[in-house]
Amino acid sequence: MKNQKNKKIPKSITGKKVLQAKQKLVNDTKKSKKIYLEEIKSTLSEYKDKRIQSKKERLIYLNQKTGHKKQKKTQNKLTRKLSNSIIDASKIFVSEEGFEPDTEKNIIEIKNVEKTYVSLGSYNKILKKISVSVERGEIVAILGSSGGGKTTLLNIIGGLDKADSGDVLVNGYNLSFLSDKHLTLFRRKYIGFVFQQYNLLPSLTAKENVEIGFNLASKGKINVLTMDEIIDVVNLTPRRNNYPNQMSGGEQQRVSIARALAKNPEILFCDEPTGALDKVMAENVLDTLISINKRLKTTVILITHNQQIGLIANKVIEMDGGNIKKITINEKPMSPKNLRWA
Ligand SMILES: Nc1ncnc2c1ncn2[C@@H]1O[C@H](COP(=O)(O)OP(=O)(O)OP(=O)(O)O)[C@@H](O)[C@H]1O
Ligand SMILES: [Mg+2]
Repeated sequence: MKNQKNKKIPKSITGKKVLQAKQKLVNDTKKSKKIYLEEIKSTLSEYKDKRIQSKKERLIYLNQKTGHKKQKKTQNKLTRKLSNSIIDASKIFVSEEGFEPDTEKNIIEIKNVEKTYVSLGSYNKILKKISVSVERGEIVAILGSSGGGKTTLLNIIGGLDKADSGDVLVNGYNLSFLSDKHLTLFRRKYIGFVFQQYNLLPSLTAKENVEIGFNLASKGKINVLTMDEIIDVVNLTPRRNNYPNQMSGGEQQRVSIARALAKNPEILFCDEPTGALDKVMAENVLDTLISINKRLKTTVILITHNQQIGLIANKVIEMDGGNIKKITINEKPMSPKNLRWA
């Protein structure tokens, strides 16, 4: 019994030692953990500093390479100087590129247009010295792969965005040197937009949605067509009192075309107007655009992914990677009903 007790003593001493050893290990681990974490932290901050530094260097390098900031600075300076006189008298023509446009013949002439987007610390050149012209009354299709710069180009010609450099002559105005305020005036007066999404107000009827376009028209501009005539051009007279949710996709798109048309624009810009429609509806919308072009002489610029749709245009501009790859003139544009849809 006594022996047994004695035997237990060393055991408990050992236990204590183990406990102490364990405690020491825990403390050491804590310490080493702390040291380890501190080491990680300092490595991370070094890494971060290095990354920030390399990002800065990269931006400086790219900026020097592309001359982006310099381009913007020059353009802003010229905009402050020229915007008033350009908007007051479109005939005062100022070219950054020193070229002579034919504004009688061409409603759009762009020369060496560049656009770079700065995002996430890098410079992406989206348009690379693009030059192209569009004659008054033409239907032009812009084709090309996704991300090729079609919408960017359309936004620049439509005065929604500004090029970094180059001349953007639209209806006699060089948009490259117009201030934001003057660009808004320009758009209101001359440009109509139609997008893939119809953006109709759901609580208004077809006619009321079109009336919005009428109200947006700049004061003093004479509308060549009455509301009823516009609704007739897009073939919606029987549906005029329907709400958007009572109409098909094609009908809703025609309402949005009528809304853009109500202010009697010189140019109608359409970004994938048939992108969300089936074959029959798409044909219908394309027919509407052609009839507008014929009756009102409105220039129509149409962006599409569909090669077939290009066949209805007078001119096809193919874009790829920020360049114009090819320009084709269609001597005999096709009727939408003869297109072979995939
Ligand atoms: N505001 C922006 N900021 C940064 N990058 C942009 C901006 N707008 C467009 N981009 C980039 O520019 C490139 C061209 O875009 P854009 O919308 O012009 O192409 P797209 O030809 O119209 O393509 P899709 O056929 O898909 O509509 C894309 O890589 C896009 O990510
Ligand atoms: Mg696009």
